[in-house]
Parts: sequence; structure tokens; C-alpha cells
Amino acid sequence: MRHFIDTQDFSKQELCDIIDLSLAIKKAIRSGYYPPLMKDMTLAMIFQQSSTRTRVSFETAMSQMGGHAQYLGPGMIQLGGHETIGDTGRVLSRLVDIIMARVVEHKTVVELAESATVPVLNGMSDYNHPTQEIGDLCTIAENLPRGKKLEDCKVVFVGDGTQVCASLGFITTHLGMHFVHYGPKGHQLNESHKAVLEKNCQASGGTWEVTDDRNAVRGADFIYTDVWYGLYESEMPKEERVQVFHDFQVNRELMQLGSIGCKFMHCLPATRGEDVTDEVADSDSSLCWEEAGNRLTAMRGLLVYLTRYRTQPTQLQLECAKEELDRFLFQRIGR
Ligand code: CP
Repeated sequence: MRHFIDTQDFSKQELCDIIDLSLAIKKAIRSGYYPPLMKDMTLAMIFQQSSTRTRVSFETAMSQMGGHAQYLGPGMIQLGGHETIGDTGRVLSRLVDIIMARVVEHKTVVELAESATVPVLNGMSDYNHPTQEIGDLCTIAENLPRGKKLEDCKVVFVGDGTQVCASLGFITTHLGMHFVHYGPKGHQLNESHKAVLEKNCQASGGTWEVTDDRNAVRGADFIYTDVWYGLYESEMPKEERVQVFHDFQVNRELMQLGSIGCKFMHCLPATRGEDVTDEVADSDSSLCWEEAGNRLTAMRGLLVYLTRYRTQPTQLQLECAKEELDRFLFQRIGR
């Protein structure tokens, strides 16, 4: 049994398997076949923060594949009250088949996974956003520049070093791609992030750079951005963030530094007019809507991958179980 807390916990081959599985299920569903791979399973969805894409994609993924999802929103369960996180993990493991959690602090989802005996998925923490990255890599794989493989692509994240920036750096370098974080000093990926990027590149042959030099954007195949303030930091006043980040807005001029055919990506929600202009977000180069749709692609693949250890009962076992229950109902309950 595996949890999905950090893409670093998975090998390059395993990540490629999850991406390929996600795309294979997408293809089947596009053709009208909804595989019942989560049949009779229940997903507990813990949210300490609000969400549109993560919540809706997990719930849709479960219902499309024959399962059910329970929304456990902020303040709806005991998590963080007098019941410990470990006890919540132990209890939920006896009530559902799989758990996802969007948490304020990364240590919460780690603690949940340590106590849970069913798979736990990280639906975003203050450290990373790994399910976002499976969807992003599905989107990149579906939109590779002509004649290029994943390993040939340069992905430039522009702006604040958010958890999405860190996660994008982690997965791209793990897969042997070329990653740049172009952001203002004071808002760049930190030394511990850089250590992960370096370790990944040494193993994969990828490259990384963290810089405030605009020239680093040149030749990008994909330009990616996020909001100019992390969800978990106290939000900077608008005038201040515009002052810090105005050179890091993704606009037409910045997109022109990319390669011919360079695509725009955004995890969303965007703050239009700040991190990206309407012109870029709504352009033919923009993949951000496709990327949002691929959150569902990724969730389906992840849910199936993480529950693949479960063995299915044989037809004979099902028939025996039914016969035994029917006998009990008839003899003891009278129905
Ligand atoms: N990108 C993302 O995680 O969106 P939500 O916050 O709406 O889930």
C-alpha cells in the first residue's frame, strides 16, 4: 500500500506509469467507456482550505468510476480539535477505502499518512501540490512540441516560489526535463528546494536554474505561473505585490521570449491583470483550461493506481457471501 504525499517518493518509471494510466483512462472515458475501477469504494476528502478544482475533480473521478466521495470541509470533522490527527487517520481507515487531504501545514498530511492503513493523497499543503503536477504532466505530454520528448522540454515557472512552483520543479527535474524558476529575489525557491532539484538532475540528466534574470525565459516550451501570493501567507497588499512582481507578469512580451509555439500554463485560480493578462490566458497558446480538465484525468489515474493493491473477490466468493447472508436473514431476522 502506498500514499501519494510527494512525487519524490516515486521513481521516474512509477510517475510515468501514473501519467500513462491517467491518459489511458481518459481515452477510455472519451470513447464512452467508464471503467468501474473504484466500484463500491469511498473516498474521504478532508479540506482545511477552500478548493474548486481539487474538490470537484476528486468527487467526479470517484463517481465516474463507480465509487463515492465524502466532502469533509473546514470545521466539519474533528481534525485539529481534541482528537489527534493520528486518531483521525486510524478511524477513517476503518470507514473509507482511500483518503485525500488539503491541509494548511504539510506535517498534517504526513501524520495522517503515518497513522492511516488506507492510501492517503496530498491535495495540497504549504510545501507541495503533487496531484496538480500529475495533471500538469498529462497536459505537457499531450502538447509536446513537434519532434520533442518530455526530456527535451524547457519549463519556466514565472513569479512567486509557491508550493506549485516547488512541485513543478520537483517533477520536471525527476523526469529529466529542464526547469527554470524566474522570480524576484526574496520570493524564489529556497536552498532545500534547490537541493531536491540538484539531486533529481544528477540522477535524471535534467537541468535547473533559479534566477531573476529575464534571459532565462528564452527558449521556453512551456511558461507557467501562479498567483503572486501563497494561499497560506498573509496576503501582501495589492500595491506591494504589484511593485515586487510587476516584471514577472506573464504578458505578450514575456511569452515572446519563449520558443515558437510556446504554451502558457497556470494551476488556477489566476488573478487576471496581475500574474497573467487576459490576452495570454485567453489566447490560443493557453493550456490553462485543458490543464484544469486534466486535474480530473490525474485524479482518476491516482485513485486507481493507489488502490491497485486490493484484490477483487472471485465470483465463487461473492456467491458464498451472498448465500451466507441470505441464510442469516431468513433464519434470524425473518426476511
Ligand atoms: N489548482 C488548484 O488546486 O485549484 P483549487 O484550489 O481550486 O483546488
